[in-house]
Amino acid sequence: MASSLLFIFVFVVLACENASAATDVPFEENYETLWGYDHISLRNQNRELRMFLDQHSGAGFWSLRRYGSGFFRMRIKTPPKDTTNIVTTYYLNSTIDNIRDEIDFEFISKDRRPNILHTNLFINGRGGREQELVLWFDPSADFHDYALLFNQHQLVWFVDDTPIRVFKNKTSIGGSFPTQPAKVMATIWSSPNWPSPGKQPNWADAPFIADYQGFSIDGCVTQSTTSDPQCYSSNYWWNQEKYWQLDTIQQQKLLDVRKKYLIYDYCTRIPKSPECKS
Ligand SMILES: *[C@@H]1O[C@H](CO)[C@@H](O)[C@H](O)[C@H]1NC(C)=O
Ligand SMILES: *[C@@H]1O[C@H](CO)[C@@H](O)[C@H](O)[C@H]1NC(C)=O
Repeated sequence: MASSLLFIFVFVVLACENASAATDVPFEENYETLWGYDHISLRNQNRELRMFLDQHSGAGFWSLRRYGSGFFRMRIKTPPKDTTNIVTTYYLNSTIDNIRDEIDFEFISKDRRPNILHTNLFINGRGGREQELVLWFDPSADFHDYALLFNQHQLVWFVDDTPIRVFKNKTSIGGSFPTQPAKVMATIWSSPNWPSPGKQPNWADAPFIADYQGFSIDGCVTQSTTSDPQCYSSNYWWNQEKYWQLDTIQQQKLLDVRKKYLIYDYCTRIPKSPECKS
């Protein structure tokens, strides 16, 4: 009995180690620094990145390749201080022929309220699809998982496996949906005007440090500048039918989390938009 339990235990430990070894790759395998070179450092055999913002500069990194679909995931620890007008981000960005598609996670504080997760979506150059929720934990205390499912049917934002936002492909009824292959990006920056107009960041608290982990990317790499049909293949797990919509448990989680924590939704301003209809 004891020995078979031990066997199972060893087996599970080995299996987990293999799984994390397979998903844990060094930064340079998929990403490069974009700006703020002296404000970024790699640690832990390049499995972890630290970047900081001070009065001189912020920093940013992006993926080497573009992706036409995928399940994008990053572990992030946000700056632990007063982050008035300091923005820590993780997003997909695609600017092709000056047309911008973008799918955002942005960590902000607003009206002295910390721990707000702002999400937005630009399609064909048009944004204005903001939603905001108050995270139910302190994102600066520890790493948490932030992920984005992107297939032909839906975009889903996840926080630690809890879906917090869904954007369905409703192009058939006049909605819009991002089409351009995108790079995965992350930045830390500040603005005297967003989200709190006219407020300087609290520079006495600088540097503002953000940490990132998890540099493997589950995505469909493409050179195409328009939507690439091979990225919709069901050979990619995130395109399979069970990812076309949330399952019942996920739907319930989504409803619960939005009921408790959502503080802003652009759809309440323009409820008639096809994309806002449920
Ligand atoms: C998006 O990527 C383009 C390059 O493709 C870059 O010029 C632009 O600044 C990026 N936008 C953001 C918000 O990162
Ligand atoms: C959105 O859905 C339509 C079908 O309704 C499909 O033809 C189109 O490829 C989808 N768009 C994207 C970007 O996946």
